[in-house]
Amino acid sequence: MAEDPHGDPRLRIEAAHKAFEQDFGRFAPFRSGVSKGSVTLAEAEKLERELGELRSRHAGKKSAIASAKKIIGRVAAEERAALGQLVQQTEAQIIEAIGEVEQSLKTFIEAARVGRERIDVTMPGRRLRRGHLHPITLMRERIEDIFVSLGYAIEDDREIETDFYNFDALNIPEGHPARASQDTFYTNEGLALRSQTSTVQIHAMQRRGAPVRMIAPGRVFRRDTPDPTHNPMFFQVEGLCVDRGITMAHLKGTVSEFLRRMFGAETVTRFRPSYFPFTEPSAEFDFSCFKCAGKGCRICKNSGWIELGGSGMVHPSVLTDAGVDAEEFTGFAFGLGIDRMCALMYGLDDIRLLFENDLRFLEQFR
Ligand code: FA5
Repeated sequence: MAEDPHGDPRLRIEAAHKAFEQDFGRFAPFRSGVSKGSVTLAEAEKLERELGELRSRHAGKKSAIASAKKIIGRVAAEERAALGQLVQQTEAQIIEAIGEVEQSLKTFIEAARVGRERIDVTMPGRRLRRGHLHPITLMRERIEDIFVSLGYAIEDDREIETDFYNFDALNIPEGHPARASQDTFYTNEGLALRSQTSTVQIHAMQRRGAPVRMIAPGRVFRRDTPDPTHNPMFFQVEGLCVDRGITMAHLKGTVSEFLRRMFGAETVTRFRPSYFPFTEPSAEFDFSCFKCAGKGCRICKNSGWIELGGSGMVHPSVLTDAGVDAEEFTGFAFGLGIDRMCALMYGLDDIRLLFENDLRFLEQFR
């Protein structure tokens, strides 16, 4: 009959050693080192972790060897020395074996990590792909630079508006076609996606009072069917100048100067009578074609002129609604479409290209 390993301390120690050797078997080949290519870095790191667990199992405080040590004091005096020696030897063998494998793994892991992180400073660097601004942003920044140099502030305002700002305050009464749902996007809560940047005129006057000089570039939304000159989402820039004694001459001077700086010193601007509910009088403005200098070409559809936007003297009731004294102040306002201006500037025949996100197109605007 096999002897009970739990009873005889010698057998307990031998059993513990056997159990260790069994567990340790797969680590044994690494005692004298880990040969290159035999394991990957990740595998070696995993072995190192597992070796740590094996150490606490076979040489830790709760190991069989540790409990064998505790009972040495209880064996007969004549056996104690031999038994003590056996325990110590066994423990030393276990610790040594583990230590050797641990060292091999450490050496291998360190070398592999250094290899992985090694930088060859002579290798050519990978070229970073530099991003660039969208053509609409480039255009907006050019417009902003010109107006800032003319003393205008830049306003950035909300794109979702109440009926008051989108319509009432701009003198667009109930029943006006611009309010119809086939022209304007409404949210479920009855708010509207602004259909023109003229809404910012009101916010700017309410916030800044008068006098005020500002431009407001931004996104606007209309339920227009997309075609080469229309998008349901496009960009406008609004301009507003309110002060004492402002006249139509200031409007014409400012817009003409802007267009000269934008398209060249020879650019001629013309104003045509028009109608906008929030300006009186109102005018649309065109400028002489920068491509053919007014002779007629494909860009200006042979007219020599390019239509750009609307303008006029701010209607007194708009000033009053925005809290500005219309007896003391007058002002002009204008608004133009950045997308169409961009198309003109870069010779695009379709503004929809601007928002198709086709990199082959966009990368031309570096
Ligand atoms: C207005 O939106 C007025 N708020 C302009 C204004 C401001 C007048 C201040 C008086 C005082 P209009 O609807 O014409 O005007 O639009 C102005 C410009 O926006 C147009 O000239 C055009 O360049 C551009 N635009 C209009 N609809 C679209 C569209 N669907 N897609 C791209 N651009 C458009």
